[in-house]
Amino acid sequence: MRSTLFSWSLLVAGSDHVQARQQVNWKTSSDDQRIEHARYLLSLSPLLDTHVDTPQVMRVLSDHPMDMIPQLGTGLAGHFDIPRAKQGGVGGVFFTVWTPCQDQLGVDVGPDYLKPDNTVRDTYESIDLIRSMIDAHQDTLKLATDAQSIRDAFKEKKIAALLGMEGSHMLGGSLSNIRTLAALGVRYLTLTHVCHSPFASSAGGGAGTDGSFIPPSSLSPTNGLTPIGVELVKELNRLGVMVDLSHTSDGTMSEALDISEAPVIFSHSGARAIHNHPRNVPDHILDRMGPGKNEGIILSVLYKHFIDPNNATIPRVVDHVEYIAQRTSKKHVGLSSDFDGMSEVVEGMEDTSKWPYLVAEFLRRGWTDEEILDLTGRNLLRVMEDVEQVGKKLRSERKPSTAIYDKRTDLPGTNWGGPHGAYLPTDVKAIVDKRVARLADEL
Ligand SMILES: *[C@@H]1O[C@H](CO)[C@@H](O)[C@H](O)[C@H]1NC(C)=O
Repeated sequence: MRSTLFSWSLLVAGSDHVQARQQVNWKTSSDDQRIEHARYLLSLSPLLDTHVDTPQVMRVLSDHPMDMIPQLGTGLAGHFDIPRAKQGGVGGVFFTVWTPCQDQLGVDVGPDYLKPDNTVRDTYESIDLIRSMIDAHQDTLKLATDAQSIRDAFKEKKIAALLGMEGSHMLGGSLSNIRTLAALGVRYLTLTHVCHSPFASSAGGGAGTDGSFIPPSSLSPTNGLTPIGVELVKELNRLGVMVDLSHTSDGTMSEALDISEAPVIFSHSGARAIHNHPRNVPDHILDRMGPGKNEGIILSVLYKHFIDPNNATIPRVVDHVEYIAQRTSKKHVGLSSDFDGMSEVVEGMEDTSKWPYLVAEFLRRGWTDEEILDLTGRNLLRVMEDVEQVGKKLRSERKPSTAIYDKRTDLPGTNWGGPHGAYLPTDVKAIVDKRVARLADEL
């Protein structure tokens, strides 16, 4: 039943300013009152969840993943579909572009990750699936590629749908791919998933366990960024794509913070001081994120084993967020889930419809309405705008990076030009023939 306390309050969806409402002490109010008020707050400003793995659900359920798209609107197995997102007051979602780390599956990826596999194919299939999902559900979803388009979607009462990419192992060792993926709408890149890549070192596996670091990457002397990884961070800054440090090794976090000219994000992580797991952010990194520092954002995660395997509850999630806010500020925290990407969730946060319950706990702990609106979305919008501004400036100052992963052996293109150079203009062929002859002499 609707509480009479709110009967006179003015509900104006689309405005992100809190209307004058009777002062209620949320610390002592009932759960129902807090949840009701949480729903009201979510109607004012978009709640943004930066990590939702629904594309993987479609891919594992069907040999024709595109045929799963209608179910997104009617009810899909897993943690996320449009009806439940609406129920949860969700205003925007980053759908995850992801393919499995082949070496973590025991596949030989070759020396220096040079052996070709299906990763790049599957990455583009995942992008196509997400873009097709958005297209098919235009009445409720709207592709968003910047902060303004998230606000526009919210005004149209649609859920903003964005693309985030989880791991540089999907780039085929090439900066060329990140430029193309950015053009297709990718707005953050997690520098690693659970494997090292040609670019950066990972914190390793740990899903379903208490977590463990993997042996350091042979490619990076510091178990952080490689030389091409440094170029990648700079290129992401230039493209206006957010650098995401969830899943990365502490070395990668630290070196990315040294280099990044824009705020970074942790798209789904907790605080290591609350639960000691490599997927959570250590204090020395949190201390570099806050006001006057990097100004980035750490967004929550709802995976049981990162929160607290013995107490994976809503209050415990809020312990993580409050610790991070105290170590950085309330302007540097946000909400995220990992829905559809985990087997064991936090009690009470079983799917995307449950967000008001989490928000209610912040009310109970005395967070003000304005602080909650920051937490649920405005802090991330601020970070996105900062990243966009940096990108705009850098694109006016410098050209795309021409850097090539130094372990590659396929350039200049030896198998190009057709049999005996039959596809090559004669002057080009002459230059190539000379080079081949010179190399033969040197042998
Ligand atoms: C779980 O965490 C919450 C929040 O810190 C705390 O209030 C509660 O006592 C904890 N429960 C257990 C069983 O440890």
